[in-house]
Amino acid sequence: MAGKIPQQFIDELLARVDIVDLIDASVPLKKAGRNHSACCPFHDEKTPSFTVSQDKQFYHCFGCGAHGTAIGFLMEYERLDFLDAVRDLAAHVGMEIPQGSYSANSAQNDSKPLYELMQQVANFYRQQLKEHPRGSEAINYLKVRSLNGETAAEFGLGYAPPGWDTLQKKLCRDNDNTQALSTTGMLIKKDNGGHYDRFRERIMFPIRDSRGRVIGFGGRVLDDGTPKYLNSPETPLFHKGQALYGLFEARQANRNISRLLIVEGYMDVVMLAQHDIRYAVATLGTATTAEHLELMFRTTSEVVFCFDGDRAGREAANRALENTLPVMQAGRQARFLFLPDGEDPDSLVQKEGKAALETRISAAAPLSTHLYEHLAKQVDMSSIDGQARLVELIRPHLNKLPSGVFKHMMITRLAGLVRMEERSLSHLLSNNERGTANTAPPHNPRPRGNNQSKQPSLVRQAITLLLNTPSLGQLKTEPQRFASLNAPGITLLIELLEMLRTSPHLTTGAVLERWREREEGRYLAKLVRQENLVPNEHQEQEFYDLLQQLHRQHRTQRIEFLCNKPTTEHSDAEKLELQRLLKEKSGI
Ligand code: UTP
Ligand code: MN
Repeated sequence: MAGKIPQQFIDELLARVDIVDLIDASVPLKKAGRNHSACCPFHDEKTPSFTVSQDKQFYHCFGCGAHGTAIGFLMEYERLDFLDAVRDLAAHVGMEIPQGSYSANSAQNDSKPLYELMQQVANFYRQQLKEHPRGSEAINYLKVRSLNGETAAEFGLGYAPPGWDTLQKKLCRDNDNTQALSTTGMLIKKDNGGHYDRFRERIMFPIRDSRGRVIGFGGRVLDDGTPKYLNSPETPLFHKGQALYGLFEARQANRNISRLLIVEGYMDVVMLAQHDIRYAVATLGTATTAEHLELMFRTTSEVVFCFDGDRAGREAANRALENTLPVMQAGRQARFLFLPDGEDPDSLVQKEGKAALETRISAAAPLSTHLYEHLAKQVDMSSIDGQARLVELIRPHLNKLPSGVFKHMMITRLAGLVRMEERSLSHLLSNNERGTANTAPPHNPRPRGNNQSKQPSLVRQAITLLLNTPSLGQLKTEPQRFASLNAPGITLLIELLEMLRTSPHLTTGAVLERWREREEGRYLAKLVRQENLVPNEHQEQEFYDLLQQLHRQHRTQRIEFLCNKPTTEHSDAEKLELQRLLKEKSGI
């Protein structure tokens, strides 16, 4: 989708924006050597590890790993999508997104009306709660559930009246309009071509995105009908795996959110807020995804899962655990709270009040404790067999954790539990890792994990240098001389070289922006974050040398290939090539 905004426009936009000014406006920066730094806005910290490079037009936090370009910063910090971030930046420097490009057509002319329409729908339902003859039944239902008017208003609750075409009659003015309502999931298409209202006779909970725009609804029946809750389907605005009910409201209520509580239901979020626990969010009838977690960890450093005490709750906890492990970076905390059987946060907060519930929340088990206790229950820890079994059980979980302090602490803890020396345990865990964890995809140019002591490959060195100093691409490099070299990452290097030959003035950030939608982008970003060890004045020479070495490597490979082939099978071109290569090699 990014491709639809002309690349040239993005390049130009990034050339006009200065990432230091941009970030400084929200996160005051201090000059520190060549870079600027601050305490990281994406995780809690006391000493600054967030750095912004003016040369590279790139930011990076050494603490939590957050990184990106000016566009990326707006996306993360303001929680905008790509198009909105581009639009905001463009407005900032007085540029206009070219007419006819995706963003002009789609985001402005397609999505914007959809958001407006959803707001109209929400207004209509809210009004029906007060004005519809049957609205009093809905109000009564809320009263029976002890929900007060103030909370209902804060969350924008409404009422979808009975009837198959109430919403349609109210909002459909023409065909386009009907189509739009159907796109947002508010109308369902009939086989014979007409439409009917999706939500009828339900209490309506508007679901807002992090900017407060209504993107979908949950509707609850007033009686024992089924389904109890009906949710909006997936639409261009609403993606269940990414939406969190209550996050917008939580942010509105708290400037800084020190922890978020993840609960199961709409009513839980709303009732907790009524009792002044204004930091609960709910997933929408799905398990918590890694995307949900990333979204939460952008707002807070601590996430507390809240589950029912029953079996289903324990199963949900296991799923949540699996999805949480991969995002556990330094500075992030996850904890697990199990409620007494038969209670949910809604019932419990009404029964015991804010303080008692917050005591439970504060005492919730950290992820590590939860994991070890959960697994230790499955084995006999008093026997050596049992302890060995624990190591086996825990291995797949540990392998999901990103390397870092947290993983290290988990291993230390396991070592204590099974009374093993930490070093041998680490060794044991990593030795078996290879067989089970099928991590790096085959096309991934990244060399495998632990060999940091080894010199990076030539290709990797060349890519790193080029990325950090894109102007090196101006040098006459003749990449075709080693284009067919058999080495991981070579196509990426060639692509970079070709690109920078035509656009040598791109900054590092602008180069990375071109890889936004591609998997290699992450690999490239990682190389940028590495300290550039080659002094400026030697970069050109170093780069030439690297390309020379690549060329020689390629020559050796070709000679070997041609010599291994029977001479009788050599084409004329190959004969000439071999002669030329041998001559070149011996320096004649
Ligand atoms: P629960 O069945 O636990 O209901 O569903 P609840 O939250 O306690 O609701 P009340 O208190 O009876 O009103 C938890 C969540 O699962 C999703 C909803 O998001 C709900 O809030 N759900 C449940 C559905 O999507 N559809 C259903 O039919 C039921
Ligand atoms: Mn409930």
